[in-house]
Amino acid sequence: MCGELLVQGSKNAALPMLAAMLLAEGVYILHHCPQITDVDHMLELLTDAGCLTRREGHMLIVDTRGADRCSLKGSGAGKMRAGVTLLGSMLGRMHAVEIPYPGGCTIGKRPIDLHLKALGQMGAVFEHREHTLSGYAEKLHGADISLDFPSVGATENILMAATLAEGRTVIRGAAREPEIAALAGFLQKMGAHIEGTGTSVIRVEGVERLHAAEYIVPSDRIVAGTYLLGAVMTGGEIRLLHVPTAHLGILPRILTELGAEVFLKEEQDEIAVKMERRTRAIPYLATAPFPDFPTDLQSALMAALSMAAGPSFLEEKIFEARFQIVPELRRMGARIYEEDSLAVIEGEARLRGAQVEARELRGGAALIMAALAAEGKTVISGMEFVKRGYEDIQGDLKKLGIVLH
Ligand code: EPZ
Repeated sequence: MCGELLVQGSKNAALPMLAAMLLAEGVYILHHCPQITDVDHMLELLTDAGCLTRREGHMLIVDTRGADRCSLKGSGAGKMRAGVTLLGSMLGRMHAVEIPYPGGCTIGKRPIDLHLKALGQMGAVFEHREHTLSGYAEKLHGADISLDFPSVGATENILMAATLAEGRTVIRGAAREPEIAALAGFLQKMGAHIEGTGTSVIRVEGVERLHAAEYIVPSDRIVAGTYLLGAVMTGGEIRLLHVPTAHLGILPRILTELGAEVFLKEEQDEIAVKMERRTRAIPYLATAPFPDFPTDLQSALMAALSMAAGPSFLEEKIFEARFQIVPELRRMGARIYEEDSLAVIEGEARLRGAQVEARELRGGAALIMAALAAEGKTVISGMEFVKRGYEDIQGDLKKLGIVLH
């Protein structure tokens, strides 16, 4: 790889912001919003709720003045999980919500017990019907909530609900991912009173009402990390622009451990990576909540380690089924063995082209990175999964010097 790229907007920052728009009536504008299918599905849900939406390139205009429907059985909710984040915003303003029950997905069961328990502490009552989940709250009130696990989605739901709840809400053990701070920034522009995002204790003072706002979606740290790990695999030098380096957490250190030279320019929100040597193995690394190594980059790291000089151990501690690219990478010549949450990557592989299948979003992107480093032609099926989160991976890679067919 060789080139420079302005990284797309963040899927996991944009989705909760769209949900937050139901907290206030008005016309919202989101800039740098990624053109991905998960955003399309969320817009379907907002339309089901009575919103008008219009997209002009990376700018999204959403008019929520007609949003008066709280029962969403639209096609969007069933297709993905982000509909779950509508619980907090709909209970916050409309005091009622009905969504198709959010099933698990390929990477895990994805329970929402932490969401429901916390919203219950704020006065919401839930009813599980056969295919839908309904929630109701006369008026939400603040609560002192301790999360058993720093769930990103649960933190987002509580944060949104708390902005219009009566009194103060404290979230202890809150998620610290950059997407939480981005959502809080958006909510503050809407008039919410929030303190402590980025730390594990967030405080919210409920207000009477909020108003619409205009906001810029931050760049996608996982898309950035995918390409940085791809550059480690292919060799070369890439520069990624408009990426807040603080959002990358431990990743720059891991890239250095892999043998890359890393150049961070915090003031310019820029990171460059240069890889001119054999990838180094990493004896052991576990995925963990931010700022540690993100589960969403575990597959891309596995692909990189399959070529390393020596064995590595990777442990997936966030989701219970996130080693789905192991059989696909083995088909390309990687020697990887998995047992429960641990994967042993033997390394020393010379990846060769093969027919492989993407089964979920981040694994699919990792297979594309592996294909760039493989000898010969790789054909990847399941690109619809990749399009859920990567706006234009072919266009991005072309700017990084690689032409896909
Ligand atoms: C968000 O999912 C992201 N999705 C995921 O990205 C990301 O992998 C994950 O956070 C972790 O960083 C969006 O932001 C849309 P969690 P979320 O609640 O909120 C368990 C991608 O590829 N848990 O932090 O669902 C859960 O089962 C996606 O972009 C409960 O047990 O993640 C999981 O094991 C994949 N009970 C762990 O916590 C709950 O009530 C982390 O889940 C909630 C979660």
